[in-house]
Amino acid sequence: MKCILEAIDIILKKGNREILNIGQFALQEGEILAVVGPNGAGKSTLLQVLALLQQPTKGVVLFRQNIVNKKNALGFRRRMAVVFQESLLLNTTVFNNVAQGLRLRGFCRNEIPSRVNLWLDRLGVSHLAHRMPRFLSGGEAQRVNIARAMALNPEVLFLDEPFTALDYPTRVSILKEMGVILKESGTTTFFVTHDYTEIPYLTDNAIVMGEGQISQRGKASKLFRDGFENIFCSSKKIKVGMV
Ligand SMILES: Nc1ncnc2c1ncn2[C@@H]1O[C@H](COP(=O)(O)OP(=O)(O)OP(=O)(O)O)[C@@H](O)[C@H]1O
Ligand SMILES: [Mg+2]
Repeated sequence: MKCILEAIDIILKKGNREILNIGQFALQEGEILAVVGPNGAGKSTLLQVLALLQQPTKGVVLFRQNIVNKKNALGFRRRMAVVFQESLLLNTTVFNNVAQGLRLRGFCRNEIPSRVNLWLDRLGVSHLAHRMPRFLSGGEAQRVNIARAMALNPEVLFLDEPFTALDYPTRVSILKEMGVILKESGTTTFFVTHDYTEIPYLTDNAIVMGEGQISQRGKASKLFRDGFENIFCSSKKIKVGMV
């Protein structure tokens, strides 16, 4: 497998406080990796560094073996997509929200409507194509956000707790569909969650973060066999790098 994203000796400071300290991290092409850890562990910060939305204080990020710098960062960033916990839809129709992303990334004009319709349909929201985002439920809005990201055919998809605010049945049904979509499309995915029970719907690969560091990496089914509380308490003692 080829490495698509790599982070080496990353330090990120806010003021005097070090909030990220990652010796080495690699994401393989086609891998779906879950990232778990309690509030404040640094999950979103690591996501933002890898998605090239935040520059680390020290260290390098490599995208397909290229060292990311100020000149090439925007081009690489446009090859990835992020879905956040809060819906970030524009004040225009659902259809236009998905189409806008494709226009910005230079997709061929003729190709855009069919791509938009394909992904709205795939996420079960094609009937909402002409609705404005403020009239969507939380679950519907997240389906549109995911359609918008997937329509871009991203080389890496970042999910920052996009299901957290949804009620349990909605969350489970979207997670199940997402599992199928990601496997079918083979999309490399970095999936942040603080709920380890969400992991099996998408993958069995996980890292555990705590205090800005990656403390464990391995198979979620083994790591979380006894629940998350145990793993997190023990993870503070065990410091491993790449597995
Ligand atoms: N702009 C900032 N200025 C100062 N501290 C920050 C800033 N952004 C994040 N932090 C701190 O960095 C730490 C890691 O934050 P981060 O948002 O990455 O955690 P997280 O694991 O995603 O948490 P959550 O589960 O609550 O989303 C936290 O202690 C947070 O307060
Ligand atoms: Mg977060």
